[in-house]
Amino acid sequence: MKKGKLIYEGKAKKVYETENPDLLIQEFKDDATAFDATKRGTIREKGVCNNKISAQLFKLLESKGIPTHLVELLSDREMLVKRLDIVPVEVTIRNIVAGGMAKLLGLDEGIELKVPVLEFHYKSDALHDPLINEYHIFALDLAQEKEIKAITQYSFEINGILQKFFDHVGLKLVDFKLEFGRHKDKILLGDEISPDTCRLWDKDTNKKLDKDRFRRDLGNIEEAYQEVAKRVLS
Ligand code: TMP
Repeated sequence: MKKGKLIYEGKAKKVYETENPDLLIQEFKDDATAFDATKRGTIREKGVCNNKISAQLFKLLESKGIPTHLVELLSDREMLVKRLDIVPVEVTIRNIVAGGMAKLLGLDEGIELKVPVLEFHYKSDALHDPLINEYHIFALDLAQEKEIKAITQYSFEINGILQKFFDHVGLKLVDFKLEFGRHKDKILLGDEISPDTCRLWDKDTNKKLDKDRFRRDLGNIEEAYQEVAKRVLS
């Protein structure tokens, strides 16, 4: 499948058209940003790690009945995906308190939650992806009720599948962010699942093996992405 016109360049990925109007190529970059791109850097080989990790996790989810946009892995940095009409609502699932939840509620990081917490955020960089609830979503017509029902159900199922998978490779799934899109009247999981979009802590040492190493200047950033790739792809 040949790359056509570049239709979108985001902070971590470029998206190209292909000769098939229904299919796009998602290319993963080494660029990293944090805090709404006020912090910028490069993480060597991050694009390769995130592309392969995402493809592997999408395949796992597909095998468990979760529909995703993945068609196939094309190369080190590229995957072929279905073209989605992205729902402008990001879903965050949290199993352990960290990041935004620690800040919002004045909690210590590391507290295990009694049940997973699902959050919706309005997808808007200009507004810093504000926390919203279902009333905002329906009042502003961001998604239909049946779409949010499917998104919610898939998100909790994905959490269960990924928690189990990561546990097998010695990682705690602290939290993660998902994006969904519409494709021929169906809701599919889109975007990526990688150390950019998940918090992953080593099960034995609690060492952070995700983008928090970049956000917080913790060092050994490349090594963390390589380590997650090694475990996920093993
Ligand atoms: P948060 O604690 O900062 O809200 O982040 C929750 C999860 O979402 C964390 O695993 C990282 C991921 N995330 C993204 O994928 N993109 C973002 O822009 C942010 C802020 C978080």
